[in-house]
Amino acid sequence: MQIKSPKYIYDFFNGVIQGENVKHYKKLYKEIDFIYKTRDNQLSPDTVMYEVYSFNEGGSNILLWGLTVIYPITINGECNMTRGHFHEDREEPEIYFGCSGEGLLLYLDSQGKIFAEKVFKGSLHYIHGNYAHRLVNTGDDTLRVGACWREAAGHDYKSIDEKPFPNRVYKKDGKIDIA
Ligand code: 6PG
Ligand code: NI
Repeated sequence: MQIKSPKYIYDFFNGVIQGENVKHYKKLYKEIDFIYKTRDNQLSPDTVMYEVYSFNEGGSNILLWGLTVIYPITINGECNMTRGHFHEDREEPEIYFGCSGEGLLLYLDSQGKIFAEKVFKGSLHYIHGNYAHRLVNTGDDTLRVGACWREAAGHDYKSIDEKPFPNRVYKKDGKIDIA
């Protein structure tokens, strides 16, 4: 039996994926400042709020692997978070798994009903296709969350822009406050 070296380095715990066909982008404050309740003029517009890695093996009916790295930044007391989205195809689920740091995974259905799960190293989250999902970094360290989903899922950001998550997460004197 031939033992092959891995095509990818899946270093989820340290927050890196390396290899061929790895896509990587940084989300800057100026690109997503509208998702937070208020603007923070002290924060440079070029601050990296979070980074997303993903890759696929190729072929059809592809499962993508990903990693989201969210920095411990507060925006006038509001915890840093991802933009949040529904999948374009509401039948496509996704799995998230906590790699490091502490956070919340917010779920929102089309009726506006919201709930959250705690995210931590080793936590596993099954996101049904009909839920929008957003990660919030509630800790003092970087939050790293791995993900697996089908490429066919797509991203629907428009529905969240039109009907945003009804709750926000703040940190006051080290305590989490959901408003
Ligand atoms: C996906 C995943 C995940 C997500 C990132 C960034 O469906 O692709 O849920 O990779 O895109 O965590 O979050 P936003 O896409 O909401 O900015
Ligand atoms: Ni998703």
